[in-house]
Amino acid sequence: MKSITDFLKMKEKAEKITMITAYDYPSAKHAEASGVEMILVGDSLGMVVLGYDSTVPVTMEDMIHHGKAVKRGAKDTFIVIDMPFISYHLSDRDTLLNACKLIQETGAHAVKIEGANDVIDKINILTNAGIPVMAHLGLTPQSVGVLGGYKVQGKNHKEALELIENAKKCEQAGAFAVLLECVPMQLAEEVSKNLRIPIIGIGAGVHTDGQVLVYHDLITYGVDRVAKFVKQYTNINESIKQAIEQYIHEVKMSEFPEITHSFTMKEEELKSLYG
Ligand code: KIV
Ligand code: NA
Repeated sequence: MKSITDFLKMKEKAEKITMITAYDYPSAKHAEASGVEMILVGDSLGMVVLGYDSTVPVTMEDMIHHGKAVKRGAKDTFIVIDMPFISYHLSDRDTLLNACKLIQETGAHAVKIEGANDVIDKINILTNAGIPVMAHLGLTPQSVGVLGGYKVQGKNHKEALELIENAKKCEQAGAFAVLLECVPMQLAEEVSKNLRIPIIGIGAGVHTDGQVLVYHDLITYGVDRVAKFVKQYTNINESIKQAIEQYIHEVKMSEFPEITHSFTMKEEELKSLYG
């Protein structure tokens, strides 16, 4: 299993870091078997698994429930778990207790928190307590209400400079990596060059130190529309639908089950059945 020191070394050697989300036992098993270096138990589970419109309704209990299943499916992969909406905007003590709960109850190795400003201090507090923190800058979905939608961030000079400064502050506060979502590729390149810690991009172009994608987006599972930055490597929606339709058809036509799917009993036992 890779550690945060390995991720630093990978950046130094310009070796790309790969990350994918997972939310349950099978997705975690797929991720680990494929050899991905980091798994994210993302609060995107609220959208792709639970069917909410945003990540805002996701609770600590949801994260713990899914985090435990991921850990059971990927015992030998570095796991980052999202701290859900508001759970790290509380007092230092409550933030620490929430992070501790996520780590202790799920067995994840690090937490991820969104945003700059007050959140920078929280990175410091958690790291000091021994909890590795991945910062999340750029488009921060938990703030969708304040941002007014899912839009590309840091497009003008002022916003871009601010983002670079915030990324540096995250590094100074002890973050082991920064996830950068939905920013112009030139800005992501600048951030990656300016920081020693790895920058993991999603919708941030080719110049980041690593990439992350949502499991359900990558394989087109349950999702209909995907963002511009997603590459759909396969479409399993179609094969799942075809399989279920075939099953319904075969049951209706008495083609399933067949003898090979059935259990039998011995002749003499059968006789006694009829008295
Ligand atoms: O929850 C999530 O899936 C994320 C993405 C940026 C990958 O935070
Ligand atoms: Na997230």
